[in-house]
Amino acid sequence: MPPRRDVAAFDERAPGYERGWRGRLHHDIAGRAAELAVSVHAAPGRVLDVGCGTGYLLRLLAQRCPRASELAGIDPAPAMIEAAEQAAGDQRLRFTVGAAERLPYPDGAFDLVVSTTSFDHWAGQRAGLGECARVLAPGGHLVLADLFSPLLRPTLLAGRRGKARTRRRASQLLIAAGWLAAGFTGLAWHDLYAVIIKAVTATT
Ligand SMILES: C[S@@+](CC[C@H](N)C(=O)[O-])C[C@H]1O[C@@H](n2cnc3c(N)ncnc32)[C@H](O)[C@@H]1O
Repeated sequence: MPPRRDVAAFDERAPGYERGWRGRLHHDIAGRAAELAVSVHAAPGRVLDVGCGTGYLLRLLAQRCPRASELAGIDPAPAMIEAAEQAAGDQRLRFTVGAAERLPYPDGAFDLVVSTTSFDHWAGQRAGLGECARVLAPGGHLVLADLFSPLLRPTLLAGRRGKARTRRRASQLLIAAGWLAAGFTGLAWHDLYAVIIKAVTATT
């Protein structure tokens, strides 16, 4: 399960999450992630955003993917989910309280799984990546964007010990979680925003 401290902090931030400079930053990152997602999968039918926060990325994808039948968001912070539901404005958007490590969806339920700036908060990153693989249908795509840079190595010595904050560590974790096993194609890395926000894409 996610650390309660992280989730409690996001619960408090939820009402004003999309405002101010931090809100603009997350919007910019989500905008680029949406571009990348439609470039790897132009017309997904079912989309999942893991650690969706207030659902901004899913709202963008709902506009970009008119043929999608379901856009699901999951986040362990109940206030984030409440804000996402209030802002949704599209009946295809569905939000659920829950965590990456235990996704409440059947195998192969989605064609596209996205996640932006959430992975670093997952207490069980390997378990979460395994769950993302499980819920993707054959031919489905993962787009995972977060802080990944060798510049962050010093932070791994302190509070973020054990987190996959570099491309190398994240790639190793994806492989350990079953990505690259039979049926999965290679991982591709993309520069997404500034120097340290990167995205990895993978295909089942
Ligand atoms: C920085 S916010 C990003 C929200 C949104 N994806 C965005 O790009 O604006 C990180 C989110 O990850 C969520 N989170 C924390 N632990 C998680 C977990 N184990 N599984 C899924 N989401 C988690 C938090 O509740 C929070 O909403």
